[in-house]
Amino acid sequence: MSILVTGGAGYIGSHCVAALVERGYDVAVIDCGGHKAALKGGRLYEGSTADRDFLRSVFQKEQVDAVIHFAASSLVGESMTAPEKYFRNNVAGAINLADTMLEFKVPYLVFSSTAATFGEPERTPILDNDPQKPTNPYGESKLIIEKMLKWYDYAHGLKFCALRYFNVAGAWHDGSIGEDHRPETHLIPIILQVAQGKRENLKLFGTDYPTKDGTCVRDYIHVEDLIDAHLLALDYLKKGNPSATFNLGNGTGFSNRQIIEAARKVTGHPIPVIEKGRRAGDPAVLIASSQKAMDVLGWKPKYTSIEQIIETAWKWHSTHPNGYGD
Ligand code: UFG
Repeated sequence: MSILVTGGAGYIGSHCVAALVERGYDVAVIDCGGHKAALKGGRLYEGSTADRDFLRSVFQKEQVDAVIHFAASSLVGESMTAPEKYFRNNVAGAINLADTMLEFKVPYLVFSSTAATFGEPERTPILDNDPQKPTNPYGESKLIIEKMLKWYDYAHGLKFCALRYFNVAGAWHDGSIGEDHRPETHLIPIILQVAQGKRENLKLFGTDYPTKDGTCVRDYIHVEDLIDAHLLALDYLKKGNPSATFNLGNGTGFSNRQIIEAARKVTGHPIPVIEKGRRAGDPAVLIASSQKAMDVLGWKPKYTSIEQIIETAWKWHSTHPNGYGD
């Protein structure tokens, strides 16, 4: 079976490529902003989903059976000041991709969606069919794509699974690939950069949230568990099942202070903290119910302890002080 992975040289995409290659799939990759060194295999085509002719040329060369679509702009803060970038890159890119899939009769798509489609949740844990009211253009762009895919299925029979990730963390078990965003904005890699001596302290955004210790609460899912869900979603579609959406998290919330404490334990570094005001657009609590993924896909996360998740990230960071170095 031949799988096309868009954004395959990014953080999550590269872990997907590694898992597919390890399991013997034939893999083609499209990427334009990731790290070539993150690829453990697959044939790389450098280009963007914005370019329909480029997409066509890839589909002409490859016998694609299914697509896993990661390529997207994904910085919540940036999306607030440059929404046009998010609608162009994410929504227009997805239209190009879906249209090319129809043209080449590729029937299955696994789409990378996000918890940000829910906005400030009315209750937690968040169920798959809870109301989606994004509070930033990033989440809105992903929600538009979810809705669009529903109609592509209705009209053209394009079958998809939209997987809504909560907070993805950790690295490949042997520490050979991991997270290297430029710029880095995520909590765990920033904390680990402090432990590496690359930053003096962590700026903790918001200590007055209505949570157990005043800091935001998030649901962390290990990147390998997340990828397992993608492979299960592919199998689900191949069996002829209907299109579906799934929330993916661990079902447990950790406050930012708990994450800092866990990272202190794992790294042995004191991780100095400077308390700051709230970051715009941060919901207080985001916790997933992944019950549907467990029931329908048979998914079960292997990394359920936050220390374990941080340990794999630390293995990557401590052995790659400059990330991919490019
Ligand atoms: N945080 C800090 N200091 C930092 C960085 C982050 O205190 O230097 C805090 C944030 O304010 C937030 C928590 O750590 O309270 C987690 O922040 P991240 O940026 O690591 O993750 P988010 O929860 O903001 O974002 C994640 C994904 C997004 C997705 C979003 C869903 O990375 O892609 O969940 O809301 F959109």
